[in-house]
Amino acid sequence: MAHYRSQGSIPPKRHTQHRDESGNLYYEELMGEEGFTSDSSLLYHRGIPSAISDARVWELGDSLATTPNHPLMPRHLKLHDLFSADDTGVDAVTGRRLVLGNGDVRISYVVADTVSPWYRNGIGDECVYVERGNARVETVFGTFDLRQGDYLVIPRATTHRWLPVVAGDESFVEPLRAYCIEANSHIAPPKRYLSRYGQLLEHAPYCERDLRGPDGPLLAEGIGAERDEPTEVYIKHRGSGPQSSGGIVGTVYTYPYHPLDVVGWDGCLYPYAFNIEDYMPITGKVHQPPPVHQVFEGYNFVICNFVPRKVDYHELSIPVPYYHSNVDSDEIMFYVDGDYEARKGSGIGKGSISVHPGGHAHGPQPGATEKSIGVHYFDELAVMVDTFRPLELGEAGRTVDDGKYAWSWVGGRTDPPESAPGSTEVFSTS
Ligand SMILES: [Fe+2]
Repeated sequence: MAHYRSQGSIPPKRHTQHRDESGNLYYEELMGEEGFTSDSSLLYHRGIPSAISDARVWELGDSLATTPNHPLMPRHLKLHDLFSADDTGVDAVTGRRLVLGNGDVRISYVVADTVSPWYRNGIGDECVYVERGNARVETVFGTFDLRQGDYLVIPRATTHRWLPVVAGDESFVEPLRAYCIEANSHIAPPKRYLSRYGQLLEHAPYCERDLRGPDGPLLAEGIGAERDEPTEVYIKHRGSGPQSSGGIVGTVYTYPYHPLDVVGWDGCLYPYAFNIEDYMPITGKVHQPPPVHQVFEGYNFVICNFVPRKVDYHELSIPVPYYHSNVDSDEIMFYVDGDYEARKGSGIGKGSISVHPGGHAHGPQPGATEKSIGVHYFDELAVMVDTFRPLELGEAGRTVDDGKYAWSWVGGRTDPPESAPGSTEVFSTS
């Protein structure tokens, strides 16, 4: 994010002495991308950032194993069936269940009621969408108070933890439901939205005013007795794991003191939040293609959102999409709220994911095209991830596949497809 921010105590000149009231030096850390040639920030620590006193394996097991979408099928995955009210003690980091993934991006889902361990993703940026509930996220850059509809973009290697607002808390609304998009790359606004120096342009559907940086105070001021306590940080990183898991492994570091010991930072690399309500949709006289709904992008994938909006106003317009073969992509739509006009009659509802793989033409369910004529407004809210490489099904995706969506354009079938839930699909871990 190429917008400068500064927080806390920093020296007037970079790479110069910065001391506390007792004369002790703070330790400067440069956190930067692309080998010192892209965005970076300078953070000033009380302790030595590289000081660790222990390291052990974080066992990820088969949790990231995937199996191919084969035979190739459009699918309906019911995310709300993944967690029940009895699932307690779940945190928003280790409790994530993998729905879909490939070598570029992993999509997982969690309903969390417990504080997560301190965590950082050493593989890529994360974009976490808050479907429901509230949470505080404490990061080395400061804190965020998140609410329904927030995206939180967290740069690679940012130490942080998730604290869901739970029943009994003053601001409790409902349990935290988080849709987690983990990249093997960076996640940023689309380049076409940006000026040559990184300002969001007039045609972009959001602008800098809509992006929230971390709020103060930095936690270094509030750590108190914990400050010198050894603290564990869970790190997801590249390793020699199975290829189907993208070679991802985990390590738990022990720091001799609290890792959130930053007294100040400045620069252009930091986490930020954006609420989907602040996305100003672009509409047209006839149907607008998905790129007008784009919000972020990573390497080999994009994130789009479909928000409540006026629809096409040509006197003969058809507001729902035409049938389309997006031949280079798998399209993953997560239905968050409202009525999704094009999917009526398919069984898809709130909490559903549709998987429309490359190689399969898709479009409205029978009758939806005709019903949409004359409609002026779509009350729908959905988050879409389109990937250029095919996605495979994770454990969670396999568990909540409804097994019949593929036949929804022919009115359904009574016999389950070969790869319905509970069938003998083999997990691919090699
Ligand atoms: Fe589509």
